[in-house]
Amino acid sequence: MDNRDRLLRIAVQSKGRLHEDTMSLLRETGIRVDEGKRTLLEKARNFPVEVLYLRDDDIPQCVANGVADLGIVGSNEFEERGEEASVLRPLGFSKCRLSLAIPRSEDYTGLAWFNGRKIATSYPAILRRFLSESGIRAEVHVITGSVEVSPGIGLSDAIFDIVSSGSTLVTNNLREVEAVMECEAILIANKHIGQDKRALIDELLFRIEAVMNAQDKKYVLMNVPSESLDAVVSVLPGAKSPTVMPLATKGWNSVHTVIEEKSLWGIIGKLKERGAQGILVVPIEKMIL
Ligand code: PRP
Ligand code: ZN
Repeated sequence: MDNRDRLLRIAVQSKGRLHEDTMSLLRETGIRVDEGKRTLLEKARNFPVEVLYLRDDDIPQCVANGVADLGIVGSNEFEERGEEASVLRPLGFSKCRLSLAIPRSEDYTGLAWFNGRKIATSYPAILRRFLSESGIRAEVHVITGSVEVSPGIGLSDAIFDIVSSGSTLVTNNLREVEAVMECEAILIANKHIGQDKRALIDELLFRIEAVMNAQDKKYVLMNVPSESLDAVVSVLPGAKSPTVMPLATKGWNSVHTVIEEKSLWGIIGKLKERGAQGILVVPIEKMIL
């Protein structure tokens, strides 16, 4: 077995929508790649991984044919390409949707509006499937870039494209009328990975899990007088009890717990009402459950 056999090769987007978040996920799993050099193939310094930088469109195929063992790609791109690869897990970032959008000035009457219309897209496979499932007969016009300008220049009546913040639609006087697919980054793997690489993939998955568990969660510490302890603990979420430790000052306790970021502000208000003081909110880097 040469060295190459024991290196996991991960295909990632070289630039664009997923690039930054992908690199920061790798960084958080402890994989260090020199990003400055940006050669096509870059070996990690401290984990048997090499990163292959590609256009997102090429990632599914490279993983399917084994040029790369793993790939991080948008579920939209993966779905569109229809390549054979295993989806190991969703990664929770680069969330967006594939939607149908029409000029703002149009009166939208429901899906039937699209009958006989021309729709521009870079996702023809997904669009055609959706149209046929919905019994709509429309013309699909395939373009690879700047799909959003095509209604404005008379190239199509509507578009089918990625919507994230929605600002591209606003800028082009378009209105999202049907969200067809929710998308996010996913980790995909070649279907014929050898035993020698499985352990490495398991280790990588374990680390990704720890990073993702910690996302959107905060570690919260506060001081609580003993008489308020029950009232404070009762508003803290979580199956397991929070940690309660006595402070040096008699009658006071330090309470520690983990709170989801989305419920943080609501809970903090209640904690203050109930007598908690000196509330500290700190980020969690990894969380092994
Ligand atoms: C997508 C899409 C829109 C934009 C939508 O392009 O084609 O142009 O993002 O995002 P918004 O709703 O936040 O404005 P992307 O940047 O992914 O590039 P690509 O499709 O050309 O690869
Ligand atoms: Zn692309």
